[in-house]
Amino acid sequence: MRSEADIVVFGGLGDLSLRKLIPSLYRSVVANQLSSNSRIILVSREDVSQQQCLERAEASLRAHLNDEEFESSHWSTFSQRLSYCFLDLAICDERWDSLKALIGDDESRTRVFYFAIPPGLYGDVCAHLSSCQLLNKNTRVVVEKPLGYDRESADSINSRIAEFLPEESIYRIDHYLGKETVQNLMALRFGNVLFEPLWDCKRIDNVQITIAETVGLEGRVSFYDRAGALRDMVQNHLLQMMCLLTMEPPTKLNADNIRAEKLKVLKSLRAIDASNVAEDTVRGQYGPGVVGGKVVPGYQDELGGASSTETFVAIRAHIDNWRWAGVPFYLRTGKRLAERFAEIVINYKPVTHCVFEPDAGPLQPNRLVIRLQPDERIQLTLMTKELNRQGIRLKPATLNLNFADTFKYTKSDGYQRLILDAVRGDPALFTHRDEVDQAWAWIDPIIAAWQSEQIDPVQYAAGSWGPDKSVGWFGDH
Ligand code: BG6
Repeated sequence: MRSEADIVVFGGLGDLSLRKLIPSLYRSVVANQLSSNSRIILVSREDVSQQQCLERAEASLRAHLNDEEFESSHWSTFSQRLSYCFLDLAICDERWDSLKALIGDDESRTRVFYFAIPPGLYGDVCAHLSSCQLLNKNTRVVVEKPLGYDRESADSINSRIAEFLPEESIYRIDHYLGKETVQNLMALRFGNVLFEPLWDCKRIDNVQITIAETVGLEGRVSFYDRAGALRDMVQNHLLQMMCLLTMEPPTKLNADNIRAEKLKVLKSLRAIDASNVAEDTVRGQYGPGVVGGKVVPGYQDELGGASSTETFVAIRAHIDNWRWAGVPFYLRTGKRLAERFAEIVINYKPVTHCVFEPDAGPLQPNRLVIRLQPDERIQLTLMTKELNRQGIRLKPATLNLNFADTFKYTKSDGYQRLILDAVRGDPALFTHRDEVDQAWAWIDPIIAAWQSEQIDPVQYAAGSWGPDKSVGWFGDH
């Protein structure tokens, strides 16, 4: 299905736009997912010409697309849809009229305003859009994380946006929900009879969810040092993945039902506070080390100053409800780790009774691995009999569904799918205000407890798997 819209990117020449949004929009145009009269308007406070803007967009595509994806003919089609608008977002002056003129007054066209800008500006931009009469029932506003710094600031940002737009027009993006394997979680759980009966505390021993990165600060000094890994990755990506993994089956997979079920999970999270923060969390910060064969500096050297911000966090979480009682969920994320990958591991319980003789060897519990990146696959480890051998000797074997081998498709980081969902008006994979609020309600006490219990980050060597305690929870990878 092809969609038609005016897509306006505020922060159009910023890092997120150049690295993620422009490549995603290019892929959508090449895949013919946006109709030929759709337009993309990049808005920035940099005073550059249309030609300079095109040069920047082309350079970003050449840098961030896979080699075979950039083609001159595609670029020519894509660039014809691109316009540039110079605007200082903080000031409502006559330049907004030029944006309005570019958008035109056809109220029937879908308008998607993508806020790739600091959240502190969201309210003002909504106010300016409103006073320029650019908001109508066909308008959607896509807002980027982090939504706030804590529960209170998130609430004030959400309230400010809500002065101008109804909840159904606000698309809070979490690009992890656009990743194919994350959506595949729902296909796996609700499209098969095999897994759902085994998806609870009776059968599952523990669950591990990891987003490991090899990159360091990547120039985001001021943002990252104020945020840290808990706010940057756990409050959103990790909790959202955990919700999709653990929510009850909705009656239909639509936005209202999915969001209602995710919210119940968030509300069931056991509080982590001063009484359990030391046992149930690990806070780390990378020191110097070697990543991918390259010597890299420690966090504070990269930052150029002292800091007690965590670049690594691991949490043992519990969902206190009927389905998940007693199952530990180990969440982990960190920068400058040994390898880049994102993965969910479901460790099943051992069989209830062993019928084999001791010389059959140990029985390993089943394990389901859902790999999100860099490769996308689902693996199920089962016990089998060793072949060509007298008597029974047990051996684990793995069923492997590798998406790249099984299906021909182009890998995406999630943004392409989600931008198209916003254009089509499908909010199912975006987060509701109540989810953001509830996620902060769980995160805030952890931060408060780190402070009250004086839990500072433990140093780990760049290129390692983080502090020892978390290696104990996750094993040596
Ligand atoms: C972003 C975080 O939301 O996700 C970054 O702000 C992080 O710090 C990034 O690097 C990871 O996304 P991906 O898709 O590259 O795993």
